[in-house]
Amino acid sequence: MHDAPMQMLAHAVRQHGLVRFIEHFAQQFPDCHLKDVVVEEMDAHRGMVVNGRRVVNFGSDSFLGLDQDPRVREAVVRGVGKWGTHNGASRAFASVRANVDAEEKLAQWLGVEATLIYPSVTLANLGAIPGLVGRRDVLVVDEHAHNSIQEGAKVARANGVRLLPFAHGDPLDLERALREAGDYRVAVVAIDGVYSMTGALPPLKALNEVCQRSRAVLYVDDAHGTGVLGRRGRGTVLDALGNYDNTFVVGSLSKAFSCAGGFIGCTREFQRLLKMRSNTYIFGGPVPPPYLEGVCAVCDILMSPEYDLLADRLKANLRRLIDGANRLGLAVLGGETPIVSVLVGDEAATLSAGRLLFEAGYYIQSVTFPAVPYHGGVLRIQVNANHWPESIDGLLDALRQLQRVIPLPGPDALNHAA
Ligand SMILES: Cc1ncc(COP(=O)(O)O)c(C=O)c1O
Repeated sequence: MHDAPMQMLAHAVRQHGLVRFIEHFAQQFPDCHLKDVVVEEMDAHRGMVVNGRRVVNFGSDSFLGLDQDPRVREAVVRGVGKWGTHNGASRAFASVRANVDAEEKLAQWLGVEATLIYPSVTLANLGAIPGLVGRRDVLVVDEHAHNSIQEGAKVARANGVRLLPFAHGDPLDLERALREAGDYRVAVVAIDGVYSMTGALPPLKALNEVCQRSRAVLYVDDAHGTGVLGRRGRGTVLDALGNYDNTFVVGSLSKAFSCAGGFIGCTREFQRLLKMRSNTYIFGGPVPPPYLEGVCAVCDILMSPEYDLLADRLKANLRRLIDGANRLGLAVLGGETPIVSVLVGDEAATLSAGRLLFEAGYYIQSVTFPAVPYHGGVLRIQVNANHWPESIDGLLDALRQLQRVIPLPGPDALNHAA
């Protein structure tokens, strides 16, 4: 007797290497897996209740703490009053005024001609990347670029675009890839502005110089830089390159912005072209309008002198954590962004470390293969402006206790992990 098709399908999906890997770890370490957690409560300073335990959350990308800002919250609530919960139409047909206002404010803040908002950064990448290149073009992607870039690249490849990888953050290898690509009309080179698992920044200037010499445009997914890096939080691109002449910059509205969505900063011409060439824009719905009101409120904050206060609070918290982690002799990755990764190495040790910190009252994300290299497990700590300094001291103390139970590598290990 044959199994029902649904059972056969479930069996087939469970054969996938990643599913087997995750299920193996979940079975082997049921107590320390800590994935898929459910948060019952949250407070204004990153306190939260999970599994009945009150912990400090060091796993939020809401870096500026604007999710708790009364002006942003009120804007969203006002938006519900004005627009209802969702307008239920593709933007190819109609956009609410708040969408256009949010795009204009984002452009003003970023210093670009125009922006185009998508429901998420993932959908921006899945729509724009295949939309920008055709069969006569090449798409070159950093081997460590975010999954959403890789998925967008797969769609482009399925459409007949030549897809080439290059070594992570390596301008020389990018040059090689473009040279070996031979004859092409134009190239798009897609990278992350901040590598979210390690907090590392790419050498934007050198990569852009290679692009300019090679008839290529740089596409920078700066999801983690939006709102926190660069002057006024405008991200990595403008400070590194001085202008946006040869770049598309993609930003997030759901990390430091604490709203919802993603956007592409570009020229007015490309705004128009991307509207016609992004399937995720045409065939999907928009960001719910109340959140677009929230985006406008956040832009106002970022363009006001208050931004510096928020950014200073975030920097002070970050400094406190990094100095403390260095004093403990830990191997600390990143540090220029509010994502700080402490190297553990072994997968089981990384998961156990996350569990022990959780039991001490601190939630951090244990990140293991395949999000980072095999045996390159890290404790990913996200610092926010609304963390109490005492919470950071408490986490450092918990890390000190952890060192007694799990041997954590020192800074020398970074040379091997790089
Ligand atoms: C570089 C990068 N791109 C895209 C995303 C996904 O963004 P979204 O949640 O808006 O789809 C992330 C999420 O962490 C990211 O780090």
